[in-house]
Amino acid sequence: MSKITLTVIKADVGGSVGHTDVHPELLEIAKEHLKEKGKMLIDFCVTHVGDDLELIMTHKGGVDNKEVHKLAWDALWACAQRAKELKLYGAGQDLLKDSFSGNVKGLGPGVAEMEFEERKSEPVIIFMADKTEPGAWNLPLYKMFADPFNTIGLVIDPSMHQGFKFEVYDMIGHKKIIFETPQEIYDMLVFIGATGRYCVRKVYTKNNEIAAVSSTQRMNFMAGKYIGKDDPVLIVRCQNGLPAVGEALEPFANPHLVAGWMRGSHNGPMIPVSIEDAVPTRFDGPPRVCALGFQLAEGKLIGPQDFFKDVAFNNARKKALEIADYIRSMGPFEPHRLHLEELEYTTFPQVAEKLQGRWEEE
Ligand code: 13P
Ligand code: 13P
Ligand code: MG
Ligand code: MG
Repeated sequence: MSKITLTVIKADVGGSVGHTDVHPELLEIAKEHLKEKGKMLIDFCVTHVGDDLELIMTHKGGVDNKEVHKLAWDALWACAQRAKELKLYGAGQDLLKDSFSGNVKGLGPGVAEMEFEERKSEPVIIFMADKTEPGAWNLPLYKMFADPFNTIGLVIDPSMHQGFKFEVYDMIGHKKIIFETPQEIYDMLVFIGATGRYCVRKVYTKNNEIAAVSSTQRMNFMAGKYIGKDDPVLIVRCQNGLPAVGEALEPFANPHLVAGWMRGSHNGPMIPVSIEDAVPTRFDGPPRVCALGFQLAEGKLIGPQDFFKDVAFNNARKKALEIADYIRSMGPFEPHRLHLEELEYTTFPQVAEKLQGRWEEE
């Protein structure tokens, strides 16, 4: 069987109400569009996390496929037009350009995709976040693929024992580097701990089999101003030499702090929720993460399984809400508010500029 491509393309094309949710009509428009125009797709699933519309698609066209990217762009465009009529909030927010030019990369939408030979059984997880940035995946990816306290398979499964390769991308310098784990974890952590600049873009087995891919664009760097957060996605293949489904989900049992809450200007805990509960309201958050699981069968998406619906994540939710209460109490102070360098890409510089003349030299 020829290789399967799993492509996830997402965008915020207008929030309802404010930045909390996607209007159900937009979900219908996207579904209809993919059904009618998506002859090249094997299967698709349309969903949302917060105000981000997510298109999960399978096909045989390979990554960066022009036809598939155009299909997704046109679907998002159609949704944005309806969002404008409904005067939804930030209608067309993530569509930075007026027309499609070969690939959605650089046009605003986030994209994560991978091509692989479908295994005898092919469990995959699509992680989707709202109110955060691509670096939010660094810590969970490290835990999944490099931390034996999270992933016991690294210790007891001979097919995982040799470790993995991490491709780390510098989102400001536009450079990449490959780290071998476990040998180079200390070197790698120097960089991936700096989540605003470096992100884990791909993880490979030592045999160069693709295991995970994240979306890594920083929209505000592309636009040169504050647009919204990137609200990234991540694809993880599981089992049989890769982390078990439960090992891939385990990092989210302890909510980590991520950047992107309220006006993209605050740190907050990432709370794992079901799709139904992916409606960030409190202070426009806290940042959400959802995980949909599928078994692939000749490219068909068998599922989804809404993993974070499980009661086993109730304590993580409780903990995240307690952290949210605590960190909210700091109001406009760092580290709840992002540090100045990160605020460069928000509306903060406009306020600072207004007061520039009032500062006296000492
Ligand atoms: P099963 O015995 O249910 O296949 O589970 C194996 C496994 O790896 C669970 O993490
Ligand atoms: P989104 O990036 O999800 O649109 O959120 C923007 C925002 O500023 C929320 O407070
Ligand atoms: Mg929005
Ligand atoms: Mg969003």
